[in-house]
Amino acid sequence: MNIIDGKAVSKAVRESVAKETEALKNKGVTPGLAVIIVGEDPASQVYVKNKEKACAEVGFYSEKYALPENTSQEELNALVKRLNLRGDINGILCQLPLPKHLNDKEVINLIDPMKDVDAFHPQNVGAIMIGDYSFLPCTPAGIMELIHSTGVDVCGKKAVVIGRSNIVGKPMAMLLLHENATVVMTHSKTQNLAEITKEADILVAAVGRAKFVTADMVKDGALVIDVGMNRDENGKLCGDVDFENVKDKCSFITPVPGGVGPMTISMLMRNTLTAAKLQNGIV
Ligand code: GUN
Repeated sequence: MNIIDGKAVSKAVRESVAKETEALKNKGVTPGLAVIIVGEDPASQVYVKNKEKACAEVGFYSEKYALPENTSQEELNALVKRLNLRGDINGILCQLPLPKHLNDKEVINLIDPMKDVDAFHPQNVGAIMIGDYSFLPCTPAGIMELIHSTGVDVCGKKAVVIGRSNIVGKPMAMLLLHENATVVMTHSKTQNLAEITKEADILVAAVGRAKFVTADMVKDGALVIDVGMNRDENGKLCGDVDFENVKDKCSFITPVPGGVGPMTISMLMRNTLTAAKLQNGIV
């Protein structure tokens, strides 16, 4: 069993982004990212702080808009429209979830698709579907980097994804399919889930339930990716996979924390760099 070191892979991505950013700055272009957060959700506050920190680390310009909980849809929309017009802002990200009175779809649809570094806009989602994209959603893209780091060839393998969210499960299945995996999508209504997951050479768990994937659900020698970020019965951070009991069955497994988590922000940095290049006609 090998534990995939998400921190190390993530560091390598950030170093390559930092190097390319330096070269871009020599051409007079500094990538700029605007991050919008509405309200006081503590987890979102941490994510946004880490995104700002990562921007500074790779040499980007960044702006944070921390808006109060009672921000109106009109105010939020107006901010996005202003940022769309700014030449020094190449990427716009609105941290989700938004407070209940705000419509996230409306905001996502307003972001200029060329500045949509989350790749949540329908135009970018469609581009992913046909395999002709500028940006990949950060978490699935980070997972593909982790899989590549193992040297495992995805082509022809049976890949099972648990969870069908727009942010992780659905795009994850597409990226695995682009690399010629045989992909099975499973979800909360799937019958006989364990029978399906037990056949997976590559198993991606994005369920949002602590230690949901148990040893009897995993094939010997499988590569297991854990996207979960949960608290266990003792309040300790844990994934969707019962790591202690599953790890010895796997060829490779990602830990929580230190697996998928660090990759997501690194891929956001890469998308912002790509956006800056595209918007300045640099390929
Ligand atoms: N909330 C949880 N994950 C994400 C993400 O990748 N992007 C944004 N904008 N919000 C999130």
